[in-house]
Amino acid sequence: MKISGSPTSPESPLALSGREPFARGTKRHCYVHPDDPDLCVKVAVRDDADCLRQQRWDLEDNRRLRARGDSVFDCIPAIEGVVDTDLGRGIVMRLCRDHDGRISRNLSQVIREHGLTPSLVRAIDALKRWLRKERLLTMDTAPYNVVAVRLDGGDWKLMIIEGWENRRYRWLASLHPLVKDRLIARQLRKFDRRVSCVAEASQGIS
Ligand SMILES: Nc1ncnc2c1ncn2[C@@H]1O[C@H](COP(=O)(O)OP(=O)(O)OP(=O)(O)O)[C@@H](O)[C@H]1O
Ligand SMILES: [Mg+2]
Repeated sequence: MKISGSPTSPESPLALSGREPFARGTKRHCYVHPDDPDLCVKVAVRDDADCLRQQRWDLEDNRRLRARGDSVFDCIPAIEGVVDTDLGRGIVMRLCRDHDGRISRNLSQVIREHGLTPSLVRAIDALKRWLRKERLLTMDTAPYNVVAVRLDGGDWKLMIIEGWENRRYRWLASLHPLVKDRLIARQLRKFDRRVSCVAEASQGIS
């Protein structure tokens, strides 16, 4: 789906260059969509293969996920389309916000600030249960690629923002359901280790 640059002048690219990104990743800068506070626009930081590949993979993966039905977007922000911007082509994605409207932060940032609290541990367990239920084999999910949405009442809901499909093991996972289950279990252990690393580093242990 292509989203036009601006409602008044669909031909002109969306103007982002004068705006401050709300987050800067290693490959993309993320802006609040100027026309919709519940959407963000991700543009490649550089015109190089890594950045453009990540943009392409996000689009391909998210499109493929749609075939699984709506429940897959319980813990994954949907991509609504692409848009031409004055910083190049942008991906338009649902923007995760906390209950009070603030833009949610990623899990690494939240762990560094709050530590691995019981409510975060519950949210991590819920995300892992969900991944097993959906039988989703993700690609080396890191805590900085998971957004922690603060709910009213203090609980957290985790959303995975990229790497939704494991391209390295897709073929292997397709061989047999048991193989896929083992690969999913391995990915979840890897995620746990990465979470522990952030938690330990934030306590100054590592
Ligand atoms: N849909 C979203 N809702 C809220 N915050 C988001 C969303 N997408 C991205 N972010 C924030 O922007 C940061 C960078 O986004 P993203 O991971 O897409 O960029 P990246 O260039 O791939 O970064 P990296 O290489 O570090 O993974 C995330 O860590 C997260 O804090
Ligand atoms: Mg990322």
